[in-house]
Amino acid sequence: MQLKENQYYIGNVPVLDICREFGTPVYVYDGNTIVEKLHILQEAFSGVPVKIKYAAKALTNISVLKLLKKEGAGLDTVSIQESRIGLMAGFAPEDIMYTPNCVSFDEIEEAVELGLGINLDNIPMLEHLGKKYGSTVPCAIRLNPHIVAGGNTKIQVGHKYSKFGISVEQMPQVMEVVHKYKLTINGLHIHTGSDIKEADVFLQTASILFDLAMQFPHLKFINFGGGFKVPYKPGDHTTNMKELGRKLSDAFLGFCKRYGKTLEMWFEPGKFLVSEAGYLLVQTNVVKQTPTTVFVGVNSGMNHLIRPMMYDAYHDIVNVSNPDGAPKEYNVVGYICETDTIGANRTLDEVREGDILAIKNAGAYGFSMSSNYNSRLRPAEVLVYQGQAKLIRRREVLDDLLKNQVEANF
Ligand code: LLP
Repeated sequence: MQLKENQYYIGNVPVLDICREFGTPVYVYDGNTIVEKLHILQEAFSGVPVKIKYAAKALTNISVLKLLKKEGAGLDTVSIQESRIGLMAGFAPEDIMYTPNCVSFDEIEEAVELGLGINLDNIPMLEHLGKKYGSTVPCAIRLNPHIVAGGNTKIQVGHKYSKFGISVEQMPQVMEVVHKYKLTINGLHIHTGSDIKEADVFLQTASILFDLAMQFPHLKFINFGGGFKVPYKPGDHTTNMKELGRKLSDAFLGFCKRYGKTLEMWFEPGKFLVSEAGYLLVQTNVVKQTPTTVFVGVNSGMNHLIRPMMYDAYHDIVNVSNPDGAPKEYNVVGYICETDTIGANRTLDEVREGDILAIKNAGAYGFSMSSNYNSRLRPAEVLVYQGQAKLIRRREVLDDLLKNQVEANF
């Protein structure tokens, strides 16, 4: 978002015009930022055959998927539905890596039938795959490296007590199953968590993967996961992509020499590609002074953006309507019947009833984690690209809440 002559813009379109045209609350994504981020990654790893598999769970709108596809990304999916949406967006099945957790074998069979890449994270499903398909269906293995990394405990998934991945301690059992069914293991994968700023975590992961990889002669790729840190707070440290690109590419090329062939290097970022591109634009319903606090109550809440409630996440907030206003301290809260604080003790340009606030970093895990709690409707989504703002999802209406309800007459 840029401030030019007292007006805020997203991708050269005035923010207040977007609100007038599409109403609020509305999620707005800046397509140029998404493309720029993808290019940063592609360039940082340009010394190796790199593939970026966008983690679709972060933001699954088909128009965003199409944009990423056009720019050369593949897809990382976690459910059959997400995979089917990816196919509808035009991704080839082999460009979609299906990495489920705790799904039934039925769903894995469906993924095989669709022709998706398969990445398994438990030994029982490897057994099922072997029994049914033997060596004919290649699959990758998601490993758990026992590394504690990530912004908070809920998004740390590579530690010993996590439900994700096959523990590196269980390699003997993995190898038993691989040999028993002559499984074709085409990739190894580790994702340790989200909000990882230290390049070292990826290097540590890499050395674990490189050691284990020597046991698998049919590898085509090594997948280093996602989780790059994005700046939520002004001044936040983030993953240094250039440094990571240089160090990891060097290590990777060294490994490929030892392995005897050049493999592909994969990443599956969600936040890095779409977080900063997204804004949740909301309108101020009320400015409420209590004996202790000034609350700004907006026409949105934890139903649209659950990250502050779920992870104590910080999202920067800007009063788009009053760039000249005198700075004051507020608690920005939602309209849900819960203490859904979006931002506590925030200094904003003076907020008046009707003012539009932009909640930043709302591109990743914003809309995709939204709900209908309190029977509230989900917002519209708008994509701004090449100087134009276009609707990419209609705002819900009451009928959407009712359409699957069936009245039982007892
Ligand atoms: N790969 C795997 C296997 C994952 O589980 C995830 C995220 C990603 C890649 C993408 O991670 P990212 O680059 O977006 O950090 N809802 C939480 C984040 C949970 C992420 C779940 N898995 C949040 O809003 O912070």
